[in-house]
Amino acid sequence: MKIRKYLLILILLALLTLSTGQVWANTNNAQEIKFTIQNVIIDGKETKLEAYLIGNNYYFKLRDIAKLLDETASEFSITYDAKTRAVFIMPGEEYKPIGSELTIGKNKAALCILSKNLFKVKDLTIKAPKYLIGGYHYLTLRDMGNALGFSVTYDESKKVPIITTGKFSLVFDVDKYEKKTATLDNKIINYRAYENIIYVTNPVDPEYQYINIYIPEEYFVGKSIGNYNANTAPIFFPNRVGGYMPAKADSPGFKQDGSPNASLVALSKGYIVASPAARGRTLKGVDSSFTGKAPACIVDLKAAVRYLRYNDEIMPGDAEKIIPNGTSAGGALTSLLGATGNHPDYEPYLEEINAAKERDDVFAVSSYCPITNLDNADMAYEWQFYGINDYNFAGRQGTLSEEQIALSAKLKSMFTDYVNSLNLKKPDGTLLILDEKGNGTFKDFVKSFLIQSAQKALSTGKDLSTLDFITIENGTVKDIDFEAYNRYITRMKPVPAFDALDASSWENSLFGDKTIDNKHFTKFSKMHSLTGAPLADEKIVKMMNPMNYIGSKEATIAKYWRIRHGAKDRDTSFAIPVILATKLQNEGYKVDFAMPWGVPHSGDYDLDELFNWMDNVIKEK
Ligand code: DHB
Repeated sequence: MKIRKYLLILILLALLTLSTGQVWANTNNAQEIKFTIQNVIIDGKETKLEAYLIGNNYYFKLRDIAKLLDETASEFSITYDAKTRAVFIMPGEEYKPIGSELTIGKNKAALCILSKNLFKVKDLTIKAPKYLIGGYHYLTLRDMGNALGFSVTYDESKKVPIITTGKFSLVFDVDKYEKKTATLDNKIINYRAYENIIYVTNPVDPEYQYINIYIPEEYFVGKSIGNYNANTAPIFFPNRVGGYMPAKADSPGFKQDGSPNASLVALSKGYIVASPAARGRTLKGVDSSFTGKAPACIVDLKAAVRYLRYNDEIMPGDAEKIIPNGTSAGGALTSLLGATGNHPDYEPYLEEINAAKERDDVFAVSSYCPITNLDNADMAYEWQFYGINDYNFAGRQGTLSEEQIALSAKLKSMFTDYVNSLNLKKPDGTLLILDEKGNGTFKDFVKSFLIQSAQKALSTGKDLSTLDFITIENGTVKDIDFEAYNRYITRMKPVPAFDALDASSWENSLFGDKTIDNKHFTKFSKMHSLTGAPLADEKIVKMMNPMNYIGSKEATIAKYWRIRHGAKDRDTSFAIPVILATKLQNEGYKVDFAMPWGVPHSGDYDLDELFNWMDNVIKEK
């Protein structure tokens, strides 16, 4: 029966090839397949190889590559188990030729089938597409390189792929770790530290494209921690990005005040910790060009998520429960991760660095004071701080000029149009809008979070009686005078707060490119520019703003969100996290948003609550 089916498929394939040349029918979509001879450069030496163009990708014979890489730093052996039709590949082992390598034969496109055979590199099943053509396995060079530790780039002028051996494999090495211990609340935590793992095979800067992974020892001896075991443990994914600067990965330890950091708390509660480093806006290459401008930081975090998915089978923990955590620019990046899962906009950038071909959506997001929605943040800032003229930010202290005050008024009125265009609603359905003066249901809604926050502070014993902008009646916070409250917390940034007219802000630097350090990213500031700095690429500005993706069918969005913005935080307007949280809630995602009382621009200050929230959303799943 099986043989007859197989024969039938072969006849059909032959007929298709005869009638159309090279169209081969896959299960549900027809694929072009074309026999070609390709030049490939391996460690500087050019060779001709058989290759098949299937869809948009060239597939090469695994045994040809094995033979060519034999005795190089990326050599590998192949063992085929005919009984189970499984292919076992061992990096670092000598290749034993079978005699059919490196021959340039006839077109065997008619004998092409998608291979369902098990494919293992060490213990990891390689899920990349593989084709059996004339009885041999064919894969793309990139997929081979990712699994076997050689890099693949493309020489555009010669139109040839370039293989460089001895690079980074994306296959997680379970045996390469250091044993570590930490003591928390008199409890000893034993864990394995896997540090400095490069998460792409073609890194721009390996100093910033690596991940540190920490795994409780219990998971290697079949034990559980609380509700979690080696299969179910969630993966806490904290980044340390600040100011959109290059960021190193985190490691479990203690903060300056002696309390445990989030990574250590995570380990103690049975989470796997996977902390990615990422490129940032000031990073330069050996030729002095900028290598970490937008969208590098988000691309890197996505590549790290993909690395975890790629290795899910062999790494303790559940890559379907990745929870990013970050503060400020790092909080903006966790929000972006949560809002842009698998979106094709990022694909070319991920391909360029040879990230794993995996999904990059995440399960839940923890975001502290996200400095996000940058292209609308100037308007939001003036909506909140118009009328307050003294600023004090990063050593720049001053009073707004007449021109700046005029710009502030303009930006404030533009914010009304922006908010009204969003069509946001309160959970009870009330439309959130503003009038030309910046008043309305949206403002009341923002205030309601401040009122809730003050109420919580009051109910837990905080004395608010000296704050005359709060109306308290019988232990209930009735109202907060928004303008007086803003005068109390003071304005931090000048006008415009983010897209500075002299293009000197951190965000101007984020949106630079390889050769230009600072760019504008709003039409408004470009129009009023004092330096003539260029406007950043519209698509890149789009890619840095989660608001552009929430609700998009092409993005997979995290189901659960915890967003915190301290009630004393003036690094961005309160409107920014409120808009983000509300948009998510309106699109059906579960959002826990609060503005903790008295808290300035900071994160990780409520780790017990954060981990309770994570434990609960994991249970809810
Ligand atoms: C950060 C703070 C800012 O005020 C800003 O504009 C960008 C980033 C930060 O702390 O990461």
